[in-house]
Amino acid sequence: MVQVKNYREETDMESNLSFLSEKGSFYLKNADKYKALYFPIASEQGLKSVVTPDLGGDSKIDQNTFLLEPESVENLHNNKAGRNFWCGLEDGSIWSVVGRSAEAEAQKLQADAETSDVCGGFMWHSVSRKSKQHELSAMTLSFVPYNKNVEIMHVDITNEGHEAVTVNPVAAIPLYGRSADNIRDHRHVTSLLHRISTTEDGVFVKPTLSFDERGHRKNEMTYFVTGIGEYENLKEMKPESFFPTVEEFIGEEGTHLNPESVARDWDGVPAGTKREGLEAMGGLKFPKITIEPKKTASFTIFMGLSDKEIDTADLIECFSKREKVYAAVKETEKYWQDKVNLWFHTGDKNFDNYMRWVAFQPFLRRVYGCSFLPHHDYGKGGRGWRDLWQDCLALLIMDPSDVRQMILDNFGGVRIDGTNATIIGSKQGEFIADRNNITRVWMDHGMWPFLTTSLYIEQTGDLAILNESQNYFKDRQTERGTATDERWLPEQGNKQLTEVKEVYEGTVLEHLLLQHICALYETGEHGKILLRGADWNDAIDMATKRGESVAFSCAYAGNLKKLAVYVRKLMELNGVKEIELFEELVEFLQMSKSADNTFSHFAKRIRHTISGKKLKVDGEWLATLLEENAEDMMNLIRKDEWVTDGKGNGWFNSYYDDNGRMVEGVVGDQVRMMLTGQVFSIMSGTASDEQVKAICKSADEYLYKKEVGGYRLNTDFHEEKYDMGRMFGFAYGQKENGAVFSHMTVMYANALYTRGFVREGYKALQTLADTALDFNTSKIYPGIPEYFDAKGRGLYHYLTGAASWYSLTMVNEVFGVKGDNGDLKLEPKLVKEQFDENGEASIEIDFVGKKFHVFYRNPNKKDFGEYVVKNITLNDEKIGDVHNNCAIIQKGNLETLTMGTHKIVVNLE
Ligand code: G1P
Repeated sequence: MVQVKNYREETDMESNLSFLSEKGSFYLKNADKYKALYFPIASEQGLKSVVTPDLGGDSKIDQNTFLLEPESVENLHNNKAGRNFWCGLEDGSIWSVVGRSAEAEAQKLQADAETSDVCGGFMWHSVSRKSKQHELSAMTLSFVPYNKNVEIMHVDITNEGHEAVTVNPVAAIPLYGRSADNIRDHRHVTSLLHRISTTEDGVFVKPTLSFDERGHRKNEMTYFVTGIGEYENLKEMKPESFFPTVEEFIGEEGTHLNPESVARDWDGVPAGTKREGLEAMGGLKFPKITIEPKKTASFTIFMGLSDKEIDTADLIECFSKREKVYAAVKETEKYWQDKVNLWFHTGDKNFDNYMRWVAFQPFLRRVYGCSFLPHHDYGKGGRGWRDLWQDCLALLIMDPSDVRQMILDNFGGVRIDGTNATIIGSKQGEFIADRNNITRVWMDHGMWPFLTTSLYIEQTGDLAILNESQNYFKDRQTERGTATDERWLPEQGNKQLTEVKEVYEGTVLEHLLLQHICALYETGEHGKILLRGADWNDAIDMATKRGESVAFSCAYAGNLKKLAVYVRKLMELNGVKEIELFEELVEFLQMSKSADNTFSHFAKRIRHTISGKKLKVDGEWLATLLEENAEDMMNLIRKDEWVTDGKGNGWFNSYYDDNGRMVEGVVGDQVRMMLTGQVFSIMSGTASDEQVKAICKSADEYLYKKEVGGYRLNTDFHEEKYDMGRMFGFAYGQKENGAVFSHMTVMYANALYTRGFVREGYKALQTLADTALDFNTSKIYPGIPEYFDAKGRGLYHYLTGAASWYSLTMVNEVFGVKGDNGDLKLEPKLVKEQFDENGEASIEIDFVGKKFHVFYRNPNKKDFGEYVVKNITLNDEKIGDVHNNCAIIQKGNLETLTMGTHKIVVNLE
């Protein structure tokens, strides 16, 4: 249920945040006291807005099409313009219903200052505020209907006094209407393009050109603000006049915080007015209205954009009345709630609510990409290669229907040398040629597709996906980005061709092999894979010559071992003992152990075209080769990379710098430790159980700080380290330099759980959630931020791969609900704190297209390690094989199930 009301009277909730339902909706008192709070509201149609407690924040569909002025986090508190709604009063004072006014600013630090409370739920946000002085209260609801490109701001103004109040209502939305690039570049010149007109519904701006000095284009986009009011018997009040430009609205003397037009009760211009070449303003002056005590007047303001005719009548028809607006919010919330079909029920209701947001975040990243929220003031809405694959992880759990195709399409971005396209188009499977002379190669890129593909195979049992054919991506970049193929011309297209100019297609297995084998042969002087442009840590970007990533060498080696398992299973599935690969690859693999076979020779052979001939290799031989390669790498790491602090602690070195020096260990009196190497040595199985124990102890000693979210990415190196990367230029405790970087911390937890270190994994996961939920520390709305800074504040909220990994870890590891080659495996790793007062914990989840509610019953409230799985029922009938701490329901038993929710009970004793 959507909850939008004023909670202040009803509750004694203090400034900390409280949940209002089980669906994540929350209430935060005095929200406008926190300057970096922002909240996403968007639709899948393209409109992406962000709102702050005083309705700052912008709105856009893409980089070149901003409806409201672009705002980075610093602008949130220093931009005076923003969405606003004013009440001009008879005594000459003016009141902003969202507290965006000179009056509110002046009062701000006073003890009895008026403040705003915020309620939020999936894609809706409401601000409530009360003025003692004016005896008025207001509730301002903002949302973007899930199926429309319009942001709606609905304002209810209530007379809280005992006498009638006459109000002059003015909606004030500054219309930016152009590209984000023009925020400084030609800001004034681009306002000269504005053609502004008023109709009886509102203000419309259609710039003449889309400004771009490389080639201006005729603009087709119209930006608008319209509105309608409603009060008792005066239903459907249209605006009576307009302030279509900023100068007419604020006047010569006024500001956005104290607009002359409202303060001096000016009349606006009528419908049918035209203005040119000025900053536009959606200023709508409604008829004066006398609100009786306890009565409410409502105004609905629409802000939007379209390159087609704008149907204002339709908007009014859909949202003219308060009830219709609220029904639309409810529908919008339901639309998004239904998508997030993953529900957790543990002993901690706050945590369960928290997980609603975490599970929602991958959808937000699908909408916003990695751009377009106030901290995310970079990029143009796209996602990078690794984000693309990792977001699939969450979709595999929540919305798996299209994932198979998504995976296949994404493999089309792999080059024949195992690198991949890094410029990703807006359509699925669309990859764009990199026109740079020498492109950047992130050495980790090749290992993520395998993680996603193997999760897909386990969830579905669809091993046959490895047999599917897909083309390879082709552009000028060749020999793993170290050379350019001058013979390649754009007209030849972006698909790898054979000598006879045919598009070459190889199996998914072949793509995976290339990604791993080619990386594994690109090693540095210590035998670990070269760091190249960077690895997962984008900010380790200055060790391009001699830098090596031990961390991801572990990851590749771990994948290779699993790939060997799949090669064997595939032979069984196909009923043949051979695997088909392209000729040059086979020859390279066959010679791989001989001294005169170099990777560069292979890379040169495949730099332009390949023969297109396929050869068969013995599958068992291939699997063994992969295992040997993996073991060689792991052994080398085990032998060379274990570092100690001389006090009995030990862990793995994660990197070599550009001077070929080991990055971790003890330097002078400083301990240098990084989390990344620990995560992947644990996850890949490079670290022995004893070593995992030692790593945990060291991480607790050097990286863990409970108050700021838990495990930090590294210790303080007290050095800029120009031979490693920009991360060391960041202040310590920020972003990739020593913040609690959620993504890596969650992967640490995941790795620990997979190795059976449950308490340790729980600690890593739970500290993140506890810190995020401790509003006084994190100062963010519920969800997982990209990182927590040195004081524990959450930054870069919402758009982070950490959300996918958190959800995945909760499902697959903590609740242990996991696909096992299509069977459903239930292997709980819940600790006793996660069961409720009856000893129960449950999860609602879709699996193979069916809905399940899985209950774990632990009546004696035993801890992990103390309980074992006793038996299991499916729809109250005993089923499944139980052994150790694990139950399995065979695929066949799941396939016969009908629609509807099926109840699984796992009894623990
Ligand atoms: C971001 C990027 C991710 C990168 C990470 C570390 O993480 O999206 O690709 O690996 O920084 O540099 P996220 O915001 O997804 O947590």
